[in-house]
Amino acid sequence: MVVATRPEQQVKIGQTQLLINNEWVESESGKRFETINPATGEVICDVAEADAPDVDKAVSAARKAFTSGEWPKMSATKRGELLYKLADLMEENKEELARLETLDNGKPLKDSLNADLRLSIACYRYYAGWADKVQGKTIPINGPYFCYTRHEPVGVVGQIIPWNFPLLMQAWKLGPALATGNTLVMKTAEQTPLSAFRVGELAMEAGFPPGVINILSGYGQTAGAAISHHHDIDKVAFTGSTEVGHLIMEASAKSNLKRVTLELGGKSPNIVFADANMDAAIEGSHNGLFFNQGQCCNAGSRLFVEEKCYDEFVEKSVARAKQRMVGDPFSSDVEQGPQVDEEQFNKVMSYIESGQKDGAQMLCGGARVGDRGYFIAPTVFADVQDGMKIAQEEIFGPVMSIIKFKDIDELVERANNTMYGLAAGVWTQDITKAHAVAHSVRAGTVWINCYHAFDAAAPFGGFKQSGIGRELGEYGLQQYTEVKTVTVKM
Ligand code: NAI
Ligand code: MG
Repeated sequence: MVVATRPEQQVKIGQTQLLINNEWVESESGKRFETINPATGEVICDVAEADAPDVDKAVSAARKAFTSGEWPKMSATKRGELLYKLADLMEENKEELARLETLDNGKPLKDSLNADLRLSIACYRYYAGWADKVQGKTIPINGPYFCYTRHEPVGVVGQIIPWNFPLLMQAWKLGPALATGNTLVMKTAEQTPLSAFRVGELAMEAGFPPGVINILSGYGQTAGAAISHHHDIDKVAFTGSTEVGHLIMEASAKSNLKRVTLELGGKSPNIVFADANMDAAIEGSHNGLFFNQGQCCNAGSRLFVEEKCYDEFVEKSVARAKQRMVGDPFSSDVEQGPQVDEEQFNKVMSYIESGQKDGAQMLCGGARVGDRGYFIAPTVFADVQDGMKIAQEEIFGPVMSIIKFKDIDELVERANNTMYGLAAGVWTQDITKAHAVAHSVRAGTVWINCYHAFDAAAPFGGFKQSGIGRELGEYGLQQYTEVKTVTVKM
C-alpha cells in the first residue's frame, strides 16, 4: 500500500458558476461553497451555491426553451448531431476531464479514463443514434378511424445526480433526455461539482440552444428539494440513497405528480459456486466489490461462497485485497484512491467497527491509510452472518463481506432476503445452474461469470427499494417520453 505523497499534477479548473440559459451566473444569494480534494482534505476551489430562486430561474429558462425557440423546432436528426458533437468534444478533452474527475472525486486517474470517460462518451453516442429512431405506432382500432401514437418529450426534467460517478451519471441522464427532446435542470452532488460544468461548457460549444441544458451546483436539502417539489418540472430523475429516493417520491406526490425515476442503493449478492473458475471468480469478486473505492450502488457486497470452496476463496481473496495498491489517485499503479469525503469515510469506518462487534472475522484492513485524505485499507470480513448490519446495509466502501452457503435452495432465499434488488453476480461453469439462479434472484441486473459489465445499450435499474424505472438502452428512452394517442375520423 502506498500513501498519497506526490503533489497532484496540474489540473485545469474551469467554470465554477451556475449554467443557466447558456450563461454562467452567480447564485441569487451570492453564496458559494467549497469542494475538497479527498486525497488531501484540502480545498480545491469554491463554486456557486444554488438554492430555490436559482432553480426557479433555471426552470423558467428550460420551460421557455421547451416551448419556443430553436429546440422544439429542431429535427430529431439534428438533436442527434448535437449529441455526437458533444461526445466528440469530450473525446478531444478526455485527459483534462479525467484529471478533473480524479481531483474532485478521488478515483484513480486510470479508472477515470478507462471507465468513466469511456462509458460516458459511449453513452452520448448511443443516445445520439437513437434521436431519430424514436417512433410511435399505427393502431388498428374499431370503427372508421385512423389511430396513431406519438412519443413526445415529457417536458422540463429535473435531474439530481450523486458523486460516485459524476460524469457517467450526468451522461446517463443527459443522453436520453436530450435525444428525446426534453429540456433539463441538473443538480450535481455537492461533493463533486466540477466535471459537470466542463461538460456544460462543451455542450455550449457543441451548439445546444440556450435553456436546454441548465446545470446547478448546490446541496440536496435546498436546491435538490426545490427541484423535487417544483410545480413546473414534469419529471425528476434521481440517483442516490434510498432514503432520499423516498423523499423525492413524497415531494412529487405533494406537488404536481411529476414522473419519478429512481436509481437507489443496493446490497447485491455475488454468488460463487465451487465449480466456478476460481481465479476468475476471485479476481472478479475483488473488482466487483473494491472498484471505485467500493462506492458503487451495484457493488457485490454480499459475497456468498459455497462451503466446498469457502476456505480457498477466503484465503486467496484476503491475499488479493492485501495486494491492492492504495494511494495517490494520480499515480499510474494505484488501484484505490480515497473515499469521497469525511462523511463517507466515517460511515465506512463505523460499519467496520460494527462488523467486528457483531463477531465477523476481520482478516485484513480495517484502518485508515496515511495521515491525510480519506483512505481506507481494503478490508475483508469472513464468517459474516445474514442478519449482521454489514450484511444488510449499504456500506459503500472497500469492505468485503464473505458469507458461507451450503446449497442452491437455501441460497436463493437468502440472496433475496433484502429490501434491495439492484444487481447480482453468479460464478459457475454449470450453465443450467447459472440461469436457474439468474431467473430466481430478484434484481435488475445479473452478471454471470463477470461483474460490473456495463454497456450503454444494456438497461440498468432496480427491483424493490433499489429503484423505479430503468436507465440506459431502449428502456431508458421510454422514461423520457409521453405517449400521445391521435385518432382521426375517416
Ligand atoms: P444522497 O442521496 O443524499 O445524495 C445524492 C444526491 O441527492 C446529491 O446530489 C444530493 O445533493 C441530493 N439530495 C440529498 N438530499 C436531497 C433531498 N432532500 N432532496 C433532493 N435531493 C437531495 O446520498 P449521500 O448522502 O451522498 O450518500 C449517502 C449514501 O447513499 C451513501 O453512503 C450510499 O450508501 C448511498 N448512495 C448511493 C448512490 C447510488 O449510486 N445509488 C450514490 C450516492 C450515494
Ligand atoms: Mg445525503
